[in-house]
Amino acid sequence: MIVAIDGPAGAGKSTVSRMLAERLGWVRLDTGALYRVVGLAATRAGRTVKDPDLGAFAAGLAIEVEADGIRLDGVDMGQAIRTPEASAAASRFAAVPAVRDALLELQRHLGRAQDTVIDGRDIGTVVFPDADVKIFLTAAAEERARRRLAELEGRGEAADFETVLADIVQRDKQDSERAVAPLKKAADAVEVDTSTLDLPGAVEACLAVVRQKVG
Ligand code: DC
Repeated sequence: MIVAIDGPAGAGKSTVSRMLAERLGWVRLDTGALYRVVGLAATRAGRTVKDPDLGAFAAGLAIEVEADGIRLDGVDMGQAIRTPEASAAASRFAAVPAVRDALLELQRHLGRAQDTVIDGRDIGTVVFPDADVKIFLTAAAEERARRRLAELEGRGEAADFETVLADIVQRDKQDSERAVAPLKKAADAVEVDTSTLDLPGAVEACLAVVRQKVG
């Protein structure tokens, strides 16, 4: 069984997917982490998005995905992929068609191995168009900006609302207008808007969608 969860950054996808998988007793596959590892590895290797053999480079990486985290060449990447630099690298290299192709088979292989909640941007549209359940998790840009601001302030990082909001609006535009596998709601996805939901509420709303679809 596959539950595909797509949506923009800041809608709560990561936490909701993790908690939903826990409730169902399934595994969770974080596809953003795969793009982050590839982006970071490519940057470290001095690659640019214009390199002609990026597909082979990405396909040749020794990436291991386990319940306890993601490893590259046997080294845990959990922390390294969460920096702003890794985010930016992931976003750049994720727009390269050869990189997406290289990660497609890996995602399908991992998703088919077990009952999985898999989250990303193109899971219900491209990676698993036949997923048993498709959820498009979203929230108003202003609410996503408020959450991001609170997160930054919690880490003691200075930021202002208008800048964070502008950044989110720009990222939405970039993700939904890119030529390959843009962020968009699959025709048969159920939209869950988390603007006015807290985390437990968002998890319950997704669980209700899953139960309605697969009993
Ligand atoms: O969800 P995230 O922030 O960890 O994703 C990191 C980057 O990877 C983000 O720029 C979008 C991209 N991504 C993608 O293009 N397709 C996916 N299925 C998952 C992530």
